Amino acid sequence: MDSARVVRAFEQNEGAISLMAGSPGPDTLEGCKDILLKATSFMLDEDTDHTATFRYGPDMGDLEYRQQLANFLSQQYGDTVDSDQLMVTAGATQALHMVATLLFNSGTVVFTEDPTYFAACSMLKKDFQMELVPVPCDDEGIDTDTLDRLLTAHRPKSDVNRPKPFWAMVYTIPVYNNPTGRCYSAGRCRRLVELARKHDVLLLAEDVYNLIHFGDSHPPPRLLSYDRPSDADYKGHTLSSGSFSKILAPGLRLGWLEGPVRILDRLHGSYLSWSGGSPNHYASRLAATALKLGLQSAHLQHVREIYKARRDVVCKILRDNLPKEASFLEPQGGFFVWVEFPEGTDTFEMVKWLMNKYSVFFLPGVCASVEGKHNNCARLSFCYLREKALVEAVTTVCKGAKEFLAQ
Ligand SMILES: Cc1ncc(COP(=O)(O)O)c(C=O)c1O
Repeated sequence: MDSARVVRAFEQNEGAISLMAGSPGPDTLEGCKDILLKATSFMLDEDTDHTATFRYGPDMGDLEYRQQLANFLSQQYGDTVDSDQLMVTAGATQALHMVATLLFNSGTVVFTEDPTYFAACSMLKKDFQMELVPVPCDDEGIDTDTLDRLLTAHRPKSDVNRPKPFWAMVYTIPVYNNPTGRCYSAGRCRRLVELARKHDVLLLAEDVYNLIHFGDSHPPPRLLSYDRPSDADYKGHTLSSGSFSKILAPGLRLGWLEGPVRILDRLHGSYLSWSGGSPNHYASRLAATALKLGLQSAHLQHVREIYKARRDVVCKILRDNLPKEASFLEPQGGFFVWVEFPEGTDTFEMVKWLMNKYSVFFLPGVCASVEGKHNNCARLSFCYLREKALVEAVTTVCKGAKEFLAQ
């Protein structure tokens, strides 16, 4: 049975309250209309060459988009992002599709964190028939000692028929992880890059939550920044996949890949781009305009404050009301709180029970695990519901969890 499908089906129940949805809610999407109206009017009325908007997009993506994005990301990350190392995507999902199918074959091994983003795993395994190898994680990120052993064990003995330039991919979400909200430590990032170089595998980091950070300065550095061109053994093993889905609107279907030219060339040089040009050219021109006019930065600051306030509210409720044997990590960014109930708790059973009794649901840990582990965990999203509904939902989950555990 596909447990994620069972839980997803709860969304169809009228009146059911979702602590599962990992996307901006109606109120944080509210400002998008104004932004996109202003950007559209500027782009089509005031821009000198609006016909550029209606052409096929250049393979790497619109130059203005890549330049505006490079400026924006450099400011947001507090690190230099080079427009030559950026290409447009139609969001992180499309980027993963492209990377998985253009750089690898079906049957290729993909090492994934466990737990991780459940939809990506299903896509890699079921849509593309790749072989998933789960790697455990701890407070500092993916367990690199275990990964080293697994990479050694799975490395093909011969290079014949192996995909080029990498024989495998390591799929990661190092900053404000989905589902745990954790960030990799600097030491773990360094070690991961060392391993990628040693075993010649691709590191794909989905950096889709990095900009939703709740501190005053910058988010933790993205994994790509540890793969330094100044290192003597540098070749470029890391891709950073970003998205406008969490910082603006998922309906735009827009994102970017940042990485070394040797990898980007293989992606945008494909026949996919030859036929259709760059993905989502129109939306990228709109986003470029919103970036140029400063509309995206202002919106991001606004939604960050909303999410931070919600994170605070949710964590306070959890601190005061969770069963005392349960624990959670207060996330410093992103959309999720990961709750751990005592070993032996089955949160898949719990969520079905909660849905039945209180019409509220979350993502049970088992859905985020490649191996069906983490049954005692729950991912609660605080991005979607407005504060009042969120307070009610999380309070109900705490109360219901106590009742469920007492049965
Ligand atoms: C880790 C991760 N990757 C990708 C996505 C989807 O991103 P996009 O909308 O850019 O395709 C999500 C959204 O939930 C996510 O959490």
